[in-house]
Amino acid sequence: MPDARFAIETGRPNRNMTRGAACPRRCGRLPVVMRIASCVLPAALLLAGLQPAFAQPSVPPHLEKRGAATQLIVDGKPFLILGGELHNSSSSSLEYMKPIWPRLAAMGLNTVVTPLSWELIEPREGAYDFTLVDGLLAQARAAHEHVVFLWLASWKNGMSSYAPVWVKRDTQRFPRVVEHGNEVEILSPMGAATQEADSRAFAALMQHIGQVDGAQHTVLMMQIENEVGVLGDSRDRSAAANQAFAGEVPGALTAYLQAHHHTLDPELRALWDEHGDQTAGTWAEVFGDTERADEIFMAWHYARFIQAVTARGKAAYNIPMYVNTWLMGEDTPPGEYPSGCPEPRVIDIWRAAGQAIDFYAPDLYASNFEEWCKRYHRDGNPLFMPEARGGALGAANVFYALGQEAGFGFSPFGIEDEDVKGPLSASYSVLSSLMPLLIDRQSADAVHGFVLDPSHPMVDFVMNGYRLHVTLDEIFGRRSERGFGLIMATGPDEFIGVGKGFRVTFAPRQAGSPQVGIAAVDEGWFENGKWMPVRRLNGDEDDQGKAWEFDTLILEEKDQGNAWYSDNLPARVEKVTLYRFE
Ligand code: DGJ
Repeated sequence: MPDARFAIETGRPNRNMTRGAACPRRCGRLPVVMRIASCVLPAALLLAGLQPAFAQPSVPPHLEKRGAATQLIVDGKPFLILGGELHNSSSSSLEYMKPIWPRLAAMGLNTVVTPLSWELIEPREGAYDFTLVDGLLAQARAAHEHVVFLWLASWKNGMSSYAPVWVKRDTQRFPRVVEHGNEVEILSPMGAATQEADSRAFAALMQHIGQVDGAQHTVLMMQIENEVGVLGDSRDRSAAANQAFAGEVPGALTAYLQAHHHTLDPELRALWDEHGDQTAGTWAEVFGDTERADEIFMAWHYARFIQAVTARGKAAYNIPMYVNTWLMGEDTPPGEYPSGCPEPRVIDIWRAAGQAIDFYAPDLYASNFEEWCKRYHRDGNPLFMPEARGGALGAANVFYALGQEAGFGFSPFGIEDEDVKGPLSASYSVLSSLMPLLIDRQSADAVHGFVLDPSHPMVDFVMNGYRLHVTLDEIFGRRSERGFGLIMATGPDEFIGVGKGFRVTFAPRQAGSPQVGIAAVDEGWFENGKWMPVRRLNGDEDDQGKAWEFDTLILEEKDQGNAWYSDNLPARVEKVTLYRFE
């Protein structure tokens, strides 16, 4: 009797279908006459102004909670972004981008995170130019890539360098942040005209994207602005900002804090509790007379502005939209990092200001990768990383993000610098082959991911009726230098693992015989969602039946057949089945 928990839809997403091939229907599977009818008939009916009865409405990309995971749904199916973000200036030129797209496709990316700037789209007020957008979409489609566009408008890395010059020049209409008595090159989020101008341009862009991509879904999501927040001071000190700061905290904000008290970020809750959970008072009264109140004040004003921009864009074409974060360093005051940026401790403030933004994303370069992932994957916020480190580190971290935190996307920064046949490409290749299974296991909450090194050499977890003890692998007394991977429960007493440099031992968690043995380990791969076993692993490859092993990573001499390790080798995919005995 098959176990319903392990029923897996194995159909691999058809690359051509999701990327605007000539016929959007599954004609390739039909006999020739039906194929012609299936392609030609709908077109003929449409030309005649008739809607064929079987035409499917084209649902834009969107987020959906499916079981334990929030997934990005593209053309009706969950999609994992194996992406990379371009350097800031690359996509300002189609000529410059021409040779980059095929390299990124060869690297195994399915999505390119692509900057688009307000200054190039609206060089003169009200005169929009979407030539670059159309060109980038044509290039992306030719390379079979999806894109996530970055709307670099009022703010980029705290500053306002991407605003059109007609905005930069008019400091009366588009007021600046004031720091230490001087206006700086940061647009103030208090500026109503700035919010209107940014919103209008963004709405025009989204309307255009809806028109040219509403049926093809090359564009998966939009990032609104980039790493916003005040740099150089903890808050805006303009007259308008000072007046608002001396006034009452808006009732909508305190009402939100009250209604969500039990789920608030622990740091925010502690701060509000410390000051008596007040529902009325000035910012300094409610949150204390420190830079923390300044940060919350800025978060509220950036959030109100950007929620409004996002809502205007969504009204024109509704696809997922998010805001990214420059993560604060340990013990650094707001202003050294952009004050008001959606750090975990102020995400609730952003949510209180509106509901248009779908989620908040970390630009995760920090070494405590796992901790930051957890801080963003909480309270309904799904994990997507528009920026991260690439190379061997990114190649390992992607397994943690997608495996452990049900992430739906990963995207190292400066992707055009990455080695086409490098470690990231190797990871993407294996993850891409696993995609339908991994997506299914994410929603069933039946996947764990990990990254191990000598300072963090083991991890334990319970899944599928067993306790799994995962450690750095060893061979002939030599320990692996690092390890990474993910493990999925795929059937009773059965697991599929992928990765390098680790070993797993099992202990029972359910009633039955007390000992666990390895019945079999097979190395294989997935083709169109189907498991293709290649060889039975035993002896040295499973420590004489004592552990489930994935290539020891030792970079030095060859010893008793100990393989040289190369970062560029694909991670192993293995299936293990277990048995119990007395
Ligand atoms: C983070 C920013 O978001 C990116 O646009 C880029 O400026 C990088 N930093 C540079 O490393």
